[in-house]
Amino acid sequence: MAAFTLKINGESRQIDVAPDTPLLWAIRDGAGLTGTKYGCGVAQCGACTVYLDGQPVRSCSMPVSAVGSSEVTTIEGVTSKEAKAVQAAWVAHDVPQCGYCQSGQVMSAAALLGLNPKPTDEDIDLAMNGNICRCATYVRIRAAIHSAAKTLEG
Ligand code: FES
Ligand code: FES
Repeated sequence: MAAFTLKINGESRQIDVAPDTPLLWAIRDGAGLTGTKYGCGVAQCGACTVYLDGQPVRSCSMPVSAVGSSEVTTIEGVTSKEAKAVQAAWVAHDVPQCGYCQSGQVMSAAALLGLNPKPTDEDIDLAMNGNICRCATYVRIRAAIHSAAKTLEG
């Protein structure tokens, strides 16, 4: 065990775990932020997506010892204008079904709009193809991303 100080959603958190513990478990068990989900554990499904200094990463596959002083942002703390537009569009389009994959989907969608404010269907499919939804909500996800892009356009 070792003590790590992680910056999560703007707060410093002391977390005592083994250095090779995945960031996902430091977030969920150490910090008690359970919006980030465990799906596959091997960087294949996107359920565990958080931002590290604003960039989406798969927290199931990143050891806590590799985080250092980087800022971690989880679904509980994401407040960018893109994230707000995405969350509103998710509600308007009633996107989630079981909901399990959706925090990861929202994190990836907001990151996409931060980089590409007017994505095409192909851009969306490419950017989101690492986020798997076992309920197959892909059509609503795509519609909601277009709708969020329109909102951001003003
Ligand atoms: S749980 Fe991390 S990518 Fe699936
Ligand atoms: S909404 Fe059920 S896994 Fe995506």
